[in-house]
Parts: sequence; C-alpha cells; structure tokens
Amino acid sequence: MTYETILTEIRGTVAIVTLNRPQALNALNSTVMVELTAALAAFDSNDAVAAAVLTGSEKAFAAGADIKEMQSLEFVDAYLGDFVAGWDAVATFRKPLIAAVSGFALGGGCELAMMCDFIIAADTAKFGQPEITLGVIPGMGGSQRLTRAVGKAKAMDMVLTGRMMDATEAERMGLVSRVVAPGQLMDETLAAAGKIAGFPRAAVLMAKEAVNRSFEATLAEGLRFERRLFQSLFATADQKEGMAAFVEKRKPAFSNR
Ligand code: CAA
Repeated sequence: MTYETILTEIRGTVAIVTLNRPQALNALNSTVMVELTAALAAFDSNDAVAAAVLTGSEKAFAAGADIKEMQSLEFVDAYLGDFVAGWDAVATFRKPLIAAVSGFALGGGCELAMMCDFIIAADTAKFGQPEITLGVIPGMGGSQRLTRAVGKAKAMDMVLTGRMMDATEAERMGLVSRVVAPGQLMDETLAAAGKIAGFPRAAVLMAKEAVNRSFEATLAEGLRFERRLFQSLFATADQKEGMAAFVEKRKPAFSNR
C-alpha cells in the first residue's frame, strides 16, 4: 500500500510508520490522520506484525495539527465533523506502539506521541503544547495525557505558556522513557520493539491493557482487572513454556498460544 503522507515498512515482526510531510514539518492534516489510522488498522489485523514504531524526521516528529487546514474552520464544522476525533484510533491500537521522537513534537505532534505506549527521544527532541499562542487549546488529548504524564504544575506551565520542554526535562518529568543520541534513535527504538515482539503476544497485549486501565479505573478496580488478566495467562501454552524454560535453564520457544 502506498500513501501520500506516510511511509510504511515491516522489518521482521516490527512495523514502522514514518510521518512524511517534510515541507510542513509533518504537520498533521486530515490526510495524515486517514492514512496513519488506516495503516495502523492494517497492522493491528496483520498476524505478521507484533509491534509498531511511529516516527517522523530528524527535524520534526510533527509540528502539530495543520494550522493552514484549521485556519478557516468554523465551530459548527468542527463540532458536527467531530474534528480531530479520528486520532483516537491511534490510542486504541492494540499492539505495542513506540514513538521515536526527534526534533519538534508540538501541539498535535506531542499529543500523537503521547497516544503511543512510550516515547524514546533523541536529545534534540522538543515537546510542547503551543496551541494557546494560536488562540486555541490542545485538542488531541494534551490537557489530559500531558497532565497524567508530568503532573499538574508542569502541564499547566506548558499549556498556559506554550513553552517547549527539551528532552532532558521530558525524561526527568516522565514524559519520555529514554533519551538517546540522534544517530541511535531508530536502533534503540527498533531494539525495544523487537524485544517486545519476541515475547508471547497475549501477555504483551494484556500488559498494555493492564497499564492503560490504570488511567481509567480506581486502584481497586485496576488491581482486580490486572489480577484477572494475570490469572488468565495461566491458560496459555506460553506461560507453561516460559516458566519451564526458566526452571530448565534454557531459552523459551514461545508459540503465541
Ligand atoms: N501547520 C501547518 N504548517 C506548519 C506547521 C503546522 N503546525 N508547522 C510548521 N509548518 C510549516 C510552516 O508553515 C513552513 O511552511 P512554509 O515553508 O510553506 O512557510 C514549514 O512548515 C517550515 O516551518 P517554519 O519555517 O516555521 O520552520 P522553523 O524551523 O522556523 O520553525 C517551528 C519550526 C517552531 C516548529 C514552527 O514551524 C512552528 O511554530 N510551528 C507551529 C507549531 C504549533 O503551533 N503547533 C500547534 C498546532 S495547533 C494543534 O496542534 C492543535 C491540536 O492540539 C489538535
């Protein structure tokens, strides 16, 4: 499948999606949304894919929603068309999705990175929610996901002043999980994705579901949900294999059953 605004590739069992609108610093227009969500849906239903990586260019992961596309939008059009709601499909991708961020991740770009399961950043990465400077506010989850990631003080600071956070601050605040040299970004991210892809798929998907549930549920409900998933994994052949391999001091041969 060829797309206009993204590039896709499957390397081993890891799918890579690269945002590709260099002339607009990967600004996220509706074509990007339709193409990215279609590509992810195809990867979700493709058994050959175990994990995915979302990345951009060296200069920009994505500089936000496309301002030129939004400029003349009226409230009624935005409301009736449920503008930007389609991006939710990224957050509901079932397989592990890692963002590899280099350069600008601003506005919708920061929000898109935060829809991924975790972010690995080059030391050149800059995160921000500058929507306030345009007379709007974050619309793809920034006020919610950034607050959960970095806490109220930093989120308010970012959302109200529109300032950028560099990679060091982002790692210190827990927005990104690792910071690497720009030349190492894809190697590090693909190694992480490849490692995840080697684990039993049911356990991987349930681990993702369990962590994500912590954002929605009370502690008691989340713990109960986790326990049920944990218990259910004892019905899998891979649990038997993983534990037998440990006891027998050998590498496990997982079957995804
Ligand atoms: N939308 C549309 N076009 C964009 C864009 C965006 N978000 N960001 C950059 N571009 C375009 C520029 O217009 C420019 O195009 P032209 O050459 O045709 O003029 C090209 O990309 C290169 O950009 P700059 O010349 O501005 O590059 P720079 O290196 O001088 O600055 C930047 C880089 C600081 C990231 C600057 O481009 C910038 O501030 N971009 C906008 C960032 C922003 O406000 N993002 C939030 C958007 S609103 C949003 O995302 C809403 C939401 O939550 C859903």
